[in-house]
Amino acid sequence: MTLLQLINQRVQAALAAAGAPDAPAVIQPASKPEFGDYQANGVMGAAKALKTNPRELAQKVVAALDLQGIADKVEIAGPGFINIHLAPEYLARRSEIALKNAKLGITPVEPQHVMVEYSSPNLAKEMHVGHLRSSIIGDALARVMEFLGHDVVRANHVGDWGTQFGMLTAYLVETSQDGKADIELSDLESFYRNAKVRFDESEEFADRARDYVVRLQGGDEEVLKLWAQFVDISLKHCEAVYQKLNVGLKREHVRGESSYNDDLPVIVEELRAAGLLSESEGAEVVFLEEFRTQDDEPMGVIIRKKDGGFLYTTTDLGAVRYRHKVLNLDRVIYVVDARQSQHFAQMFSICRKAGFAPESMLLEHIGFGVMMGDDGKPFKTRSGGTVKLIELLDEAEERAYALVSEKNPDLPEAEKREIAAAVGIGAVKYADLSKNRMSDYIFNWDTMLAFEGNTAPYLQYAYTRVQSVFRKAENVDANAPIVITEPAEKQLAAALSQFEDTLLSVADGCYPHYLSNYLYQIATLFSRFYEACPILKSEGEVRASRLQLAALTGKTLRTGLDLLGIKVLETM
Ligand code: ARG
Repeated sequence: MTLLQLINQRVQAALAAAGAPDAPAVIQPASKPEFGDYQANGVMGAAKALKTNPRELAQKVVAALDLQGIADKVEIAGPGFINIHLAPEYLARRSEIALKNAKLGITPVEPQHVMVEYSSPNLAKEMHVGHLRSSIIGDALARVMEFLGHDVVRANHVGDWGTQFGMLTAYLVETSQDGKADIELSDLESFYRNAKVRFDESEEFADRARDYVVRLQGGDEEVLKLWAQFVDISLKHCEAVYQKLNVGLKREHVRGESSYNDDLPVIVEELRAAGLLSESEGAEVVFLEEFRTQDDEPMGVIIRKKDGGFLYTTTDLGAVRYRHKVLNLDRVIYVVDARQSQHFAQMFSICRKAGFAPESMLLEHIGFGVMMGDDGKPFKTRSGGTVKLIELLDEAEERAYALVSEKNPDLPEAEKREIAAAVGIGAVKYADLSKNRMSDYIFNWDTMLAFEGNTAPYLQYAYTRVQSVFRKAENVDANAPIVITEPAEKQLAAALSQFEDTLLSVADGCYPHYLSNYLYQIATLFSRFYEACPILKSEGEVRASRLQLAALTGKTLRTGLDLLGIKVLETM
């Protein structure tokens, strides 16, 4: 059981004994050290419901509270808060267990079959900064859930089936390049640009492009061959980006829009059979009562256009159906820009009505805000163009390289490069993952690369500090008992004991910043401990115990950063 669960259970039992069995205990880590380690805030609510005096109820709860061996002091504060001070011996035992266990002592969860769908770029163009957030947030969530013991399926729902492929094909045929054997990504980029120009300037070209889409979707071999080539080149590029980003998406996780092509007519039939489909101006539409237009009419979601074409939503319905029928998932998480929230809300609603997903299969749109430039507008190049993701990442490494070279000019070149990659990419990822995903944020190189504050370099540096203790220490006893006497030791150990609760809260609401903030807290508490409690200069049991606390700190930082997809280094 996690620490929070344990305390909650005990306080809950005491509330029941005091006559308030239904009141929630409301346990939180204490907001200030003088309030102990945890506070139970549920008594006031319970007293209100029972129409009794909160302080008296608190006294009864405390009298019934069994925290023997766990807490050494329990006090009532203010109108009826209960402050719980954990016993140092108890924290020491928990820390020892965490240190010996490969997973830091976490209890495996009841495994759920969870899909994390993320990144999902539209192919035929290079990935741009707009793909950053989904890729890194999704990857962190997948890692955390996997670590907790869930059965995680990663999915990259790439856009590989739209108009862009018709355009490309039409352009290649028009310029007699459709036989070209070795198309490269740079070709694809310029083809795409040229094709777009042609598409916009010529009605006739646009018709041909649309016709190619129809042929593609109808299974025309020639068009399919070209398409497969475009897709392959684009995916190779995505894979290079994922590799650089340390994002765990591989080819086997790709299941693009195209793979649901054959299901689309079936979706239409099933929606019709369920009585959900209406005709509106030649298109087939599902009207949703719970979504209203500006004129307060039920909103229509187009499933099949007048010309027979299917839409983004239709494909998503096909994907949900597949994820239930074939994969039998318990939970599907869509890590997609918050601007698509209406799409997902409507799509989920249709799924429930049509029975594509049973109520037991959770469908969650995990949205996120916009990454902005210093000017407070969506991040763009100086000339207002979209920034290619690979270029942004290269710049991150270059900037980190310059910093490292300045701080440590004598390091061998290869080592500087390695540090630059870990710090540069780590900084970009952490700047994102340390903020509530729903808020917009300003992308700023100087803040994210700073060695002070809540940044990746600060945490990576904190980790190297821990490691340097072990490089200097001779004779480390990996089995030494932990003995906690100093406040700085206790605060560090108490925070280290919250790792599992932190991960559970990340997985629950899909908020990676809980983990980032937790790691920052650990690094800060370690730094205080390091200043207040000499490690190598102390002796005997004290030294051995402090080394153990340092070891657990290192292990927690490394594991936590790894779950965020951020690399650590032994030296910097
Ligand atoms: N390819 C889409 C885009 O670039 C994102 C796909 C999100 N996933 C989904 N199942 N709709 O906007």
